[in-house]
Amino acid sequence: MSRTAPLIKYLTQLEREGVRHVRLDENAKEVLRKRLRKRKVPASNSLPPASQKSGSRHTAPPASIPSLEAQGSNPEEQIAFLKAQAEHWEPARSLGSLREKMVFSTGNPAADIMLVGEAPGYEEERRQEPFVGRAGQKLDQILSAMGLARGEVYISNICKFRPALKNQTTNNRKPTPEEMKACLPFVQAEIGIVQPKCIVALGGTAAEGLLDYENQPVGRMRGSWHKFENIPVRVTYHPSYLLHNDSAVSEKRKVWEDMLSVLEFLGMPISEKQRGFFSGK
Ligand code: URA
Repeated sequence: MSRTAPLIKYLTQLEREGVRHVRLDENAKEVLRKRLRKRKVPASNSLPPASQKSGSRHTAPPASIPSLEAQGSNPEEQIAFLKAQAEHWEPARSLGSLREKMVFSTGNPAADIMLVGEAPGYEEERRQEPFVGRAGQKLDQILSAMGLARGEVYISNICKFRPALKNQTTNNRKPTPEEMKACLPFVQAEIGIVQPKCIVALGGTAAEGLLDYENQPVGRMRGSWHKFENIPVRVTYHPSYLLHNDSAVSEKRKVWEDMLSVLEFLGMPISEKQRGFFSGK
C-alpha cells in the first residue's frame, strides 16, 4: 500500500483538530514532495473565448454527497431555496468540524461576475454575510476600483460554515478539502442559477476547492483562464493576502492585473487611469 494515504489522513485529522504546524521527518517530507510532483497544474490552460465548451474541470463531490436542484420560479427564489437547504445540510453537519451558523452568499443572482472565497470568518459568522470583515472591506475596494458595487456581483464561499477550532474566539482557519467537498453542491447549484460569465476564485483554497488542484501556489494558477463546468475561472490572491502584504504594491498590481483580465474578458470599459493603477510606483 502507498505510504501517502495514511500520512495524508493523519495530517488531515490534525488540521481538522486545529493543529496548524507539524514537524515532519525527512521520510514524510519526501512522501509529500512526491505527491506534489505528481499533481502539477497543466502548463497551458489558457481559455480565449467565453463560449468555449470543453475541458471542464472541477472536484466531483463524493458519491455520498447528494447533488442539489434548486426549486423556485426565479433566481431569487431558487437562491432562497438553496439557503434553506444549507441550514440543515447533513454532509457538512456530519463532519463535526464546522460551526453551527450557516453563512450563505450575497449579491446579485443575475450577476456577470461571481466571486468565490473560502469560508466565513468571525465577522461573517457574526453578521451572517460573506466578506464583511477586513478582507471584505478590501474586496469592496477592489470592486469599486473596477467600477462595480458589491450588489452588482455575486459573492459566495466554497464552504458555507465557519471552520471550527478548539477554544475559538476571533481566530479562523481555512476549510479542509472534505469541508469544501461537502459544500460544493451549493456552489454548483448557485453557478447553475446565476450563470455568471466568469468566476473569480479568491485565493488558493477556493481555487483548489473549485478546480481540484492540490497545494498549488496562487502564483502558478493566476495569469490564465481555468474552467469550472464550462464557466471561465480566474484565480487571484485572497483579499486578506493584500492586508498582510499591504506595503507590497507589486502584489496589489498582480491582483489588479487579474481583475483587468476579468474586465477585458467581459468587454467592460477600462479607463487609462484604471490601466495604470499600481504600475510604475
Ligand atoms: N474570507 C473568505 O474567504 N470568505 C469570507 O466570507 C470572509 C473572509
